[in-house]
Amino acid sequence: MLDYGRARQRQIYIAGLAGKRPCVPVQPNALEAAAERAMSREAATYVAGPAGGGATFRANRAAFDRRRIVPRVLRDVERRDTSITLLGHTLPAPILLAPIGVLEMAHRDADLAVARAAAAHGIPMIFSNQASVAMEACAAAMGDAPRWFQLYWSKSDELVESFVRRAERCGCEAIVLTLDTTMLGWRPGDLDLAFLPFLHGKGIAQYVSDPVYRKLLDQPLEDVTEVKAPVNFHTLTAFLEMVRKYPGGLFEKLKSGHPRAAVQRFVATYSRPSLTWEHVSKLEGMTKLPVILKGILHPDDAREAIARGVDGIIVSNHGGRQIDGEVASLDMLPKIVEAVAGRIPVLFDSGIRGGADVFKAIALGAAAVLLGRPYVYGLALAGEAGVHEVISNVIAEFDLTMGLAGCRSVAEVAQARLVEA
Ligand code: FNR
Repeated sequence: MLDYGRARQRQIYIAGLAGKRPCVPVQPNALEAAAERAMSREAATYVAGPAGGGATFRANRAAFDRRRIVPRVLRDVERRDTSITLLGHTLPAPILLAPIGVLEMAHRDADLAVARAAAAHGIPMIFSNQASVAMEACAAAMGDAPRWFQLYWSKSDELVESFVRRAERCGCEAIVLTLDTTMLGWRPGDLDLAFLPFLHGKGIAQYVSDPVYRKLLDQPLEDVTEVKAPVNFHTLTAFLEMVRKYPGGLFEKLKSGHPRAAVQRFVATYSRPSLTWEHVSKLEGMTKLPVILKGILHPDDAREAIARGVDGIIVSNHGGRQIDGEVASLDMLPKIVEAVAGRIPVLFDSGIRGGADVFKAIALGAAAVLLGRPYVYGLALAGEAGVHEVISNVIAEFDLTMGLAGCRSVAEVAQARLVEA
């Protein structure tokens, strides 16, 4: 993309002459605060909430704040190009949208709004395993725009394979296997509200739209903790929500009992703490698509990933949602880049809030970054238009930071100097 930053600035300031302001706040903190006010307490807590006391979440941001860009001057930055090549595809900027589940909590258009906004920019969307809208519907809304699929390896290998096949048919260009969430982290905010969206039938659209999963619903559940709660107004409301979310006609849904079974089966199936490197090899044998591992934080795990033949890794601590007191994702990036030594692309997420953060991650060796919570905040405030603006603003700030630091290309950003304050 050429001169995107100045074009975006002009667009905003000229609209301002007509009394029009951006549809979502440009300032990252204001964006987050406004979105949290717009969402229900449950949604705001689920999206923003960290694991434990939030030490990892804060460390992610502190790691960015500690690093400072050292600009170079007088380098003719009139023409700048933010595009990159990743896994053989050209992208307009080194940015993808992180897989984020249960987007219906932020906005009723959920994944569909995000899919359209991502497609308009040509920025890849990574469909979440815990999406609110089935991947086929999102893919249909995206035309030829790039998309990847993120997989959680559940207890059913047959279901895993079915998800992978569907992703292939949906034109996904890579499979991202997330490794850091074989169990849900300890999230006091959600626990205090006693709210887990999946139990309300939210965030299980990939499952209820899956033929293998639907077949599982007629089989008895063994060694399963039943989702049984006393019958009252709340449980009835939750039950009606499950029925509403489940695809198909009302009579059929009530007769089959599938909506409730779908939630119970999900609880019994989704978590796979026994996951090992063997599963990675199995996934590679299952598909010709590139396999990317998400949630790598140790250089030895990065080396093992390469030995297993994976096509890329994502340095991530899941935005501080899994382990409290975990190392900041950005602090591990240089060590992992060193261990990988250019053999596969190293992507990064956890803490990206604007374009200057993208610059810093690239300068530390990332090939590209995943934008996470900020786009959910845009979604919460203004649906598709909100996501579109958030992406625009991040690319624009990246482009301007690049030029102001004396870089004309992403390759030059990779050579830029940072110092630790
Ligand atoms: C996530 N993330 C995530 N990751 C994943 O692999 N599959 C998923 O379904 C989800 N779901 C999800 C929901 C919510 C509400 C959040 C905030 C995050 C993690 C996500 O992909 C990414 O790693 C983090 O969002 C990065 O942290 P920041 O930059 O958003 O703070």
